[in-house]
Amino acid sequence: MKIKIVENNVVLVSPSNENFEIHPLWLRERAKTENLVDKHNDQRLYDPSQLNQNIKIKKTSMNNGHLNIEFTDGIKFEYEVNDLLYEIDRKEPAENIILWDSNLKKKPTIVFEKEIFETKVMYNVLQDFYKYGFVIFKNVPVEENYIVNFANSIGTIRPTNFGESFSVKSVPEPNDLAYTSIALTPHTDNPYRKPIPCIQLLHCLENEVKGGFSTLVDGFSVSEYLRKKHKDLFKILTKTKVRFRFVDKTIILENWGELIELDDNNKIKQVRYSTRLDYVPALEKKELKIFYEARKLISDLYASSKFEIKFRLERGDLLMMDNHRLLHGRTSYDVSEGKRYLKGCYIDHDSTEGKLRYLERKFGLKWKK
Ligand SMILES: [Fe+2]
Repeated sequence: MKIKIVENNVVLVSPSNENFEIHPLWLRERAKTENLVDKHNDQRLYDPSQLNQNIKIKKTSMNNGHLNIEFTDGIKFEYEVNDLLYEIDRKEPAENIILWDSNLKKKPTIVFEKEIFETKVMYNVLQDFYKYGFVIFKNVPVEENYIVNFANSIGTIRPTNFGESFSVKSVPEPNDLAYTSIALTPHTDNPYRKPIPCIQLLHCLENEVKGGFSTLVDGFSVSEYLRKKHKDLFKILTKTKVRFRFVDKTIILENWGELIELDDNNKIKQVRYSTRLDYVPALEKKELKIFYEARKLISDLYASSKFEIKFRLERGDLLMMDNHRLLHGRTSYDVSEGKRYLKGCYIDHDSTEGKLRYLERKFGLKWKK
């Protein structure tokens, strides 16, 4: 992709040599003189829809990666060609993913340091998070509410009816099976919420038991496998909206969604899976037969050794995982062996993406493609 000037017009040239003229108004909206944009916050001081729609380029020249333009309304501005190209060709963090299964050789892991949130290391960690859908921090201080500081150092914690954070340990009369010692099959968290929490953080404060292994599955990887091998079953999982429901003494939460949700380009956007909470709609018998077959298959795949990784969270480990992409679970454990105590909380994708872009600007980096 490059930009050149052809007969006083700014033209974008694609790698396949298809050229198109960039609209002068598009460029004019990006002019950032002191009168046009507040230098403290990069926000426009005017409404661009009120500009002359027929604005033209009066004069233009290119010099050493700088594009100088004078518009017919008298505004002059010098653009960085690389900035324009970056905007045109940019990729979102979530587009840069690596699908994985149980053959994943090395889990993305980083040793935590107190100032990590402001470093280039954090930028790389966040990139790994988007590539793999999870990352493990080692040696995070084992303090009761450290996870709250941790979450708020990336972005902003998302409180729910479980509180700002929640304690994952075995308790009597639990309002969720997470707070028991039984095995939890692979699931995504809280598909009954609107919106569904994006990222889950789990901080291990105590782990004295032999069992209680954590499991992770790349839901996108399983979905792509289904798309390739079982087209019809894949299709019905992407078309059928299931109701998820959570019931507690003072609240009933519900939301609908596909087990595999696609975006407008048929790319996988989000997976939902929680066998404890799902209510399939009363479809016609023939259709439900296919749906149940598909759900059984995806359940088997999520639980299979082909896709699942299993590891022990040690005291001080903090697992950060994408709840829209990964499924997580744990094996059962015996409470008589000792303590197993995890603190959890949620943050939004806004937090990680915002932090990533902030660090990108701070260190003059561009998102690696
Ligand atoms: Fe969970």
